[in-house]
Amino acid sequence: MATDFKLKTKWEKYTVLALRFVVGATFVVSGFVKAVDLWGVEYKIADYLTAFGWDWAKPYIGIVAVMLPLVEFLAGLWLFIGSFRRFTVWLMLAMMAFLLPLSAYIAFANPVADCGCFGEAFVVSNGWTLVKNILITAALVFLLPRNHGLRSIYGPAVQWITVLLPAVYLLLIMIVGYNWQPIFDFRPYKIGTTIADDSADRSDFLFTYEKDGERRDFDVDNLPDSTWTFVDRKQVEVADNDNLRRIAIYDGEEEVTDDVRLADGDVLLLLISDISQINVAYTFKLNELYNNVSESGVNLICLTGNSESEIVQWREMSMADYPIYTMDSSELKSLARGNPAVVWLRDGTVLYKSTMDSADIDDILSGKPADEFVGRELHVFIWLTTLLFAAMALLLFINRSPLLIKLTKRLRKNQNKELPLHQNSQNQLNNHKQQTKMRKNIVAGNWKMNTTLQEGVALAKEVNEALKTRTPNCDVIIGVPFTHLASVAAAIDTDKLGLSAENCADKVSGAYTGEVSAAMVASTGAKYVILGHSERRQYYHETAEILKEKVVLALANGLTPIFCIGEVLEERENGTYFDVVKAQVEGSLFDLSAEDFGKIVLAYEPVWAIGTGKTATADQAQEIHAFIRKTIADKYGAEVAENTSILYGGSCKPTNAKELFAKPDVDGGLIGGAALKADSFMGIVDAF
Ligand code: 13P
Repeated sequence: MATDFKLKTKWEKYTVLALRFVVGATFVVSGFVKAVDLWGVEYKIADYLTAFGWDWAKPYIGIVAVMLPLVEFLAGLWLFIGSFRRFTVWLMLAMMAFLLPLSAYIAFANPVADCGCFGEAFVVSNGWTLVKNILITAALVFLLPRNHGLRSIYGPAVQWITVLLPAVYLLLIMIVGYNWQPIFDFRPYKIGTTIADDSADRSDFLFTYEKDGERRDFDVDNLPDSTWTFVDRKQVEVADNDNLRRIAIYDGEEEVTDDVRLADGDVLLLLISDISQINVAYTFKLNELYNNVSESGVNLICLTGNSESEIVQWREMSMADYPIYTMDSSELKSLARGNPAVVWLRDGTVLYKSTMDSADIDDILSGKPADEFVGRELHVFIWLTTLLFAAMALLLFINRSPLLIKLTKRLRKNQNKELPLHQNSQNQLNNHKQQTKMRKNIVAGNWKMNTTLQEGVALAKEVNEALKTRTPNCDVIIGVPFTHLASVAAAIDTDKLGLSAENCADKVSGAYTGEVSAAMVASTGAKYVILGHSERRQYYHETAEILKEKVVLALANGLTPIFCIGEVLEERENGTYFDVVKAQVEGSLFDLSAEDFGKIVLAYEPVWAIGTGKTATADQAQEIHAFIRKTIADKYGAEVAENTSILYGGSCKPTNAKELFAKPDVDGGLIGGAALKADSFMGIVDAF
């Protein structure tokens, strides 16, 4: 695990921000341009697999082609907006662990000409790709311990939506590109490109004339009058039309580009980049297309990248009557994506293109002009992108607007009032619980013997800062070592963040070397003290009697005891845990007056769950919490019992807190390990 650095200087903060921006944007762009052109990604992966001789992996190309852009895009976006701050950097580093060696190999061995990092949008040389990947990896290593030091734009409650919305968006972009054509066509044969024209002669003549010692060139349409004398004639190349990119078509060995008359009116090119990969189900559809097209006077020409023998096989198998010629297969894939795909030419210029699957082929054949469909991909892109931005902005607004937060809370309250209790879901039960009960919800940290003074103060400040941006549905307390109390008290707002000691002496004062009295604790500004923790019972042999003294002294000094009880594994397994817990409560607390008992917070901590990663299930916790409450009710009456907060402790984490806290008798948590990181501690606070 990386050490956690705090962002100490402005310089560090701005660097993190800048790297989030640059690396995030690189991943977003890289994922997006790939998603736009899934066919291209598939071709590129196939190139790699062929170069490595990994033909066995070819059946998985499709899934990789979808996952790669998706993960790149989401990770980039999360880094950009600060979601899942640790996970994102780890995810990116995991990707780089694969991509960096790959790009090093490609840079030196050159098995494929272009790495394909940015699809066909920008072609980056293999050498520069390696440099780029080294820089990205270095940036990620820098970000690893620092990225979570800067806030997320979206709070934890809505972070999952930052997964869902962009993922759906990108998948739709992929679907559009895959079924029609890429939204942005970065390839040479865009719509509007002329791939054949009638001007076979690409050169022209200039005539040089002279008059009064001056020489000038004239073209054939603007020759001068007879006062000029002819001197010379020279041939010049006519500058190529920017939109002209010819293709070369072959019939066997012979080039037949001019013979097939591509520039003659309407021509439909049927492109089968690889006959061996085409689904047999297309046989009928292609024949039908040929018949329909021929009836409407359009010339259909099939172009493929396959060998003569494969063409013959296809003809026999599909009974194809249409003319089939060949063309360079990578040019063919460049002309239009899809296998098969169609390209509609008018006078040699690309008017429309699509995969064969798109429904508009039928529309076009039934008379709709092909150019009506041009730009449909872009329209969909504009719509999808606008919707994504609007949804993300709305989400941010909802997430940040205090007014809306209040409003939704109120709405929820009203809803709960209207609903009968038996219809309550776990959440509603929780809300109901919060509205009806008098006792407090509490999330308290117990740092135990961890952190130096400096680390402790920094952690306390971090929690304090995090609380400023929230209105938690619980009291929040941190329990810190004695040495930290005064400094932490000075560094936090103790009205918002309660401060607790982890112990106090069972004596008032005097010659008890090394002990810290309840009065001393109170003098630091602390308001709570954790007493009876199982670690103190086990390692320092604190008995029920000693704890009884501590509780009395804590109360006498105005401290609220957070009194811990809980059974060991053996007692859980042999079923004596009810008796054990009851004896602990009775032994140290039941001599108190009802008024004093009312000041106690209880924490049930099964010893077998502390620091072990083994949590009591929510039902186990509820069972024993209800039992404890009943034990209190039997002694002090229902009202005192109802008002006593009983916390759960033992491997409580952000991931299980919600379920535990939803139980009617679980009023919060006493948190060990997860309280040592502000993020995870706040995650538990947020569970309320
Ligand atoms: P963990 O949360 O680390 O299991 O510790 C619980 C605890 O002992 C709190 O007092």
